[in-house]
Amino acid sequence: MGNFFPRWTNWLPLKLAIGVAFIAFGVSVGVAYYFTPKYTRVGYEPTQPVPFSHKIHAGQLGLDCRYCHSFAENSSHANVPTNQTCFNCHGPGKGNIKSSSPKLEMVVKANETKQPVPWIKVHKAPDYVYFNHSAHLNRGISCQSCHGQINEMEVVKHAEPQSMGWCLECHRNPEQKLRPLEQVTNLNYKPEQLDRTSFYQGLLAKGVKADEIAGTISEGKKATTVEDLVSLASTTFGENVTQLEVGTQLKKHWQIQPPENCTACHR
Ligand code: HEC
Ligand code: HEC
Ligand code: HEC
Ligand code: HEC
Ligand code: HEC
Repeated sequence: MGNFFPRWTNWLPLKLAIGVAFIAFGVSVGVAYYFTPKYTRVGYEPTQPVPFSHKIHAGQLGLDCRYCHSFAENSSHANVPTNQTCFNCHGPGKGNIKSSSPKLEMVVKANETKQPVPWIKVHKAPDYVYFNHSAHLNRGISCQSCHGQINEMEVVKHAEPQSMGWCLECHRNPEQKLRPLEQVTNLNYKPEQLDRTSFYQGLLAKGVKADEIAGTISEGKKATTVEDLVSLASTTFGENVTQLEVGTQLKKHWQIQPPENCTACHR
């Protein structure tokens, strides 16, 4: 006698039971979370082993986030930099910047013993949550939306709740946050700094039809040239480029659809 059902079906009832229990539990707890306005981690600001300042390095020196957090863009995890990255500037005989400063002693020691600096984690998603950095950065969500104004922080602090309700709030209305990809690590970006002509030219260059762009600016409207689009947008949004203007175009034409189903974030 052969097996009529493959082996895995033995597990099916159990899987279903777990699934149902998880959803029932999840909905109640999830709802409770969603309605908690201020999650307690906001403000968490541990003292780090080395007084590393983002305000100096990312703010004043203007280093791009990816110089140190080099994996954020291409992998699910953002990394903290290795000692070698610091030594590009602070290493003796290299940049030699402040290489004998007592504030850098810990980095020198860590390097000698080939150990990483024991940085204290500030942001940590629970293990049952699936989160991917690159999936956000490559779709036009900035570090700033999730970590706050890091380039002005002496010490990194937990600026956003990163609760389930917070994730979902953006997933439901991504147009409030989307920005052009080249602005993702520019923490001082403001939509009104964008040049309207270049923005629409950029969309046209990517092959989006002028009529589709016009219809997204204002329902039922048509256009043929970039000048048409700029004048239509000026009438609809005013003199300056606005977040809603940029966000709705990017959402529509890049087909941004952040997931809201449980299994997207809990796999
Ligand atoms: C010169 C290297 C360097 C640059 C440039 C840099 N960082 Fe960092 N970053 C670090 C180091 C080292 C840490 C770990 C120590 C700390 O938390 O301050 C860190 C920590 C962080 C953390 C907290 C990680 C955690 O534990 O949760 C965030 C968020 C962060 N950086 C974001 C940014 C953003 C956004 C930018 C660009 C505006 C940036 N960083 C630029 C070196 C850098
Ligand atoms: C691109 C060059 C560059 C890189 C890379 C860099 N730094 Fe710096 N760092 C500087 C400069 C410039 C200063 C400011 C020096 C001054 O105040 O004159 C500085 C200042 C500091 C200070 C304060 C030193 C003091 O005595 O005031 C610390 C601590 C420090 N950096 C740690 C780090 C760590 C840790 C890393 C690696 C995660 C790092 N830096 C990477 C250029 C760099
Ligand atoms: C959509 C929200 C979001 C965006 C955008 C985002 N982050 Fe994060 N970041 C998170 C979350 C959530 C965590 C905690 C993840 C975890 O524990 O797996 C985190 C963790 C980190 C960490 C700590 C990693 C570690 O293992 O210690 C660093 C560093 C970091 N982010 C840097 C950045 C930088 C730099 C950018 C922009 C280039 C960025 N993040 C953009 C949400 C975001
Ligand atoms: C500021 C806006 C924003 C926030 C906050 C945010 N997301 Fe997203 N998320 C997006 C966008 C935009 C996408 C891309 C959708 C697409 O590609 O169509 C996305 C996609 C995803 C995806 C699907 C892509 C993948 O990696 O499989 C997951 C899962 C996800 N987000 C989880 C999270 C979690 C967990 C949090 C909270 C810790 C979070 N997101 C916070 C905007 C956000
Ligand atoms: C966009 C991503 C996302 C989606 C979609 C999502 N969750 Fe979550 N969920 C999270 C994050 C992030 C946390 C952790 C929150 C925290 O650490 O405060 C969480 C936490 C939870 C928790 C644990 C709460 C606790 O007590 O710690 C449960 C249960 C849960 N979610 C169930 C669900 C269910 C059921 C659904 C579908 C209706 C769902 N989630 C959809 C991101 C998501």
